[in-house]
Amino acid sequence: MPQGTSHFVIAANRLPVRWSPVENRWKPSPGGLVSAMLTSLQDVAPLHWVGWTGVAGDAPAEFGEGEEEMSLLGVSLSHAETELYYSGMSNATIWPLYHDGVRPPEFHRSWWNSYVEVNKRFCEAVASVSAPGATVWIHDYHLQLLPKMLREQRPDVKIGFFLHIPFPPADLFARLPFRQQIIEGLLGADVIGVQTNRSRDNLRRTAIFLGAAEAERDNLLVVKDKAEAEYKVVVERFAIGIDVARFEEAAQSTAVQQRAEEIREMVGVEKVLLGVDRLDYTKGIDIRMRAFGELLSEEFFAPGECSMVQVAEPSRSNVNQYVELREHVEQLVGKVNGLHGQLGRQAIHYFHKSQPFEEIVAMYLAADVMLVTPLRDGMNLVAKEYVTARQDDTGALVLSEFTGAAELLRDAILVNPYDIDGLKRAINEAVRMPTADASAKMKRMREAVSGNDVHDWVRDFVNCLVATDTESN
Ligand code: G6P
Repeated sequence: MPQGTSHFVIAANRLPVRWSPVENRWKPSPGGLVSAMLTSLQDVAPLHWVGWTGVAGDAPAEFGEGEEEMSLLGVSLSHAETELYYSGMSNATIWPLYHDGVRPPEFHRSWWNSYVEVNKRFCEAVASVSAPGATVWIHDYHLQLLPKMLREQRPDVKIGFFLHIPFPPADLFARLPFRQQIIEGLLGADVIGVQTNRSRDNLRRTAIFLGAAEAERDNLLVVKDKAEAEYKVVVERFAIGIDVARFEEAAQSTAVQQRAEEIREMVGVEKVLLGVDRLDYTKGIDIRMRAFGELLSEEFFAPGECSMVQVAEPSRSNVNQYVELREHVEQLVGKVNGLHGQLGRQAIHYFHKSQPFEEIVAMYLAADVMLVTPLRDGMNLVAKEYVTARQDDTGALVLSEFTGAAELLRDAILVNPYDIDGLKRAINEAVRMPTADASAKMKRMREAVSGNDVHDWVRDFVNCLVATDTESN
């Protein structure tokens, strides 16, 4: 194996580290998903992870200690590229379009050109660290051109692509001025994984509709390369899970349980309603606040019966639509609290900052009702985390039909988040759900989540990729 290369390479827009100005060093990203993935990938270690630091400018050559199992290769983005490729093409074109166009996507050629350039840079970086015959796993919507670029440059490597967000219906995707390049870019992979059956069907239909592939069998497409040679692409659903053991352990810890008690005392009401999201317009944060505000105005709840806690983690604050959303949500919080708050008791407790892992689990334990109401979401792991934390089988989950998680969690109170009256009924039902009913549902949901955790997801995807027939590909 050439020096400085690996047999397994991960490519994602973000590296799994974050700069800590306080500690003056690179620290593993919070979230746990990455560390869970790496645990599952121990058999293929040492591996390389190629990605961006999240900060404009030259990427550092070194990221500090703890890199024996995994080497990090930083891809540099200029200030202009963070605007054009990241905030623009990735997060103001593809993100809203793929989420059912819940905000109007913008199409700009300068954004597109930058997206192509950055994908090329990733291709060079990935190729430089991939050993002959390596397996490369590419993640998410920022890098949809990379599979084809890499196939052309490195026909010896096996390429997997996983889309963490939804793949839209063909007629929505067809709006993209760059649709042909993107679908052909994706089809450079040997395996394309998506979160839901719906995304899988959308992707297959789109590829066929745009003439980029022909159907072979249910989950298999046939694609022609530049030389007109045929190869096969598997398109399959791999529903992502959470690190169940990590959440179970935290939920059982005495410190977390005590903190949950404290939170309940501080909120000081009978029923605590909770939302935990990135501050993103796809998450339906404003809708649930409106529904809750109306329920209070219409006196569905007695004074002091219910309060809502909303954690809204700051996100993509350079993108206009996120700036507008923040203003809107914060106005709503002010409005609902102005009308329904009392001295020492708020109707909505709102946090625009990320919270430590243990604090989030304590909130899950403190919450009688979890509100997960996205307008569209690839999976939504918060729903799975809440269910896993509720080990005494109490609590109720209000869950949007338009999340990937709803394919699994059929025992949640499923809602159409566009229907405010329906959402109000669902919140009311969750608050009043009889204990025995809630307990039976929560138990089934907990079992469903633990039956398919993040380790199963990694294993299933990698096994599928490894099993693809290199000869015919
Ligand atoms: C979603 C995407 C991820 C992304 C994350 C945070 O979950 O699927 O690829 O990393 O949001 O967004 P950010 O723009 O901060 O990376």
